[in-house]
Amino acid sequence: MNYKSDFIQLSIPNLSGNEICYVNDAIKTGWVSSVGEYVLKFENAVCSYIKAKKAAVCQSGTAGLHLSLIVLGIKKNDEVIVPTVSFIATVNPVKYVGAFPVFMDCDDSFCMDVVKLKKFLEEECIFDGRIVKNKVSKRRIKAIIVVHVFGNMKNMCELLNIAKFYNLKIIEDAAEALGSFYKEGKLKGKYAGTMADIGVFSFNGNKIITTGGGGVVVSNNINLINQVKFLSTQAKKDSIYFIHDEIGFNYRMTNVQAAIGLAQIEQIENFIKVKTRNYNFYKECGVNLIPFNLRIRSNYWFYSYLTEERDDLINYLLKNKIQSRPLWFPIHLQKCYKKSQSYKIKKALWFWKRVINLPCSTNLSKDMVFKISTILKKFNKPLSF
Ligand SMILES: Cc1ncc(COP(=O)(O)O)c(C=O)c1O
Repeated sequence: MNYKSDFIQLSIPNLSGNEICYVNDAIKTGWVSSVGEYVLKFENAVCSYIKAKKAAVCQSGTAGLHLSLIVLGIKKNDEVIVPTVSFIATVNPVKYVGAFPVFMDCDDSFCMDVVKLKKFLEEECIFDGRIVKNKVSKRRIKAIIVVHVFGNMKNMCELLNIAKFYNLKIIEDAAEALGSFYKEGKLKGKYAGTMADIGVFSFNGNKIITTGGGGVVVSNNINLINQVKFLSTQAKKDSIYFIHDEIGFNYRMTNVQAAIGLAQIEQIENFIKVKTRNYNFYKECGVNLIPFNLRIRSNYWFYSYLTEERDDLINYLLKNKIQSRPLWFPIHLQKCYKKSQSYKIKKALWFWKRVINLPCSTNLSKDMVFKISTILKKFNKPLSF
């Protein structure tokens, strides 16, 4: 697809800051691989932006999730509660470590339905005050992966209480939610990705900031991040004699990617401003977008729209040179996960049939939003939410 054609893409990078300058610098100095000053600078910039104690950049959000599961002690035959509404990369790392996913439904925010989660733990599990076991599989449940879908956040307070009560670890998959934080309540000022044991972000090309491909793991537990860094560097214990006492991974981010990341994070507040403005402009143009939680300052990463004619609308928009996409196919129905346990999933299926995402890049002008809105209105009446 031609980047500069009149085709309006869903979510493309905006590289209008210091990217070229920092990348040139990395290249000029010769530090293009996984060691270099931009790696540290980018990690520090992420930490200071979201107020986290420590960060370790890595090759992708998926790699970050994989390492997070390992350092939290999730092992073969453990179970991890996961959402069915997410990109499949949230769940695949559970399989990488030999554990089993148990799928949960979403609520109106697309995030995990915490009421159902609580019911599942109360009714379908046995808790001895220390360990929770799944009544059906008899396996131990060790962790929950919660996703802040499309930049939204909900119910972290309740989720943290549940995890504390049941002695479960929480991984926040905040791949899509860099910059979202609570505006009020007990968690006021807390950023997505910083409230649980560990948080993971993605810098894939469609995210609010990108490094081309990449991710970062953050935590207030410095020891956990040190372990992530160690494992992402082939678990190299001694760099002169190359001693490795554990199986590690080559999951590091390069200095060139980190240089792009630093330039990107410098612009994130501006990106969020533009995304918020365009979201509101769609609404002013009469497009009934699904609301974000009003108790948070969302990063407005992805805009969602409800329709009874999902596939026809996607095709109609495509004919008008506008890219859109349906909500992810529910993961518990994917071929590799069909046999996994899922708990009373209803809402996710309802949304899957009706939700599409509309263009939301930070390069989107008001004229483009107006054009998309006009074409949408010609097609049908939206469902109200
Ligand atoms: C919710 C979610 N989790 C995980 C990932 C995986 O991140 P990456 O593509 O950087 O591996 C993504 C996006 O790509 C995502 O949207």
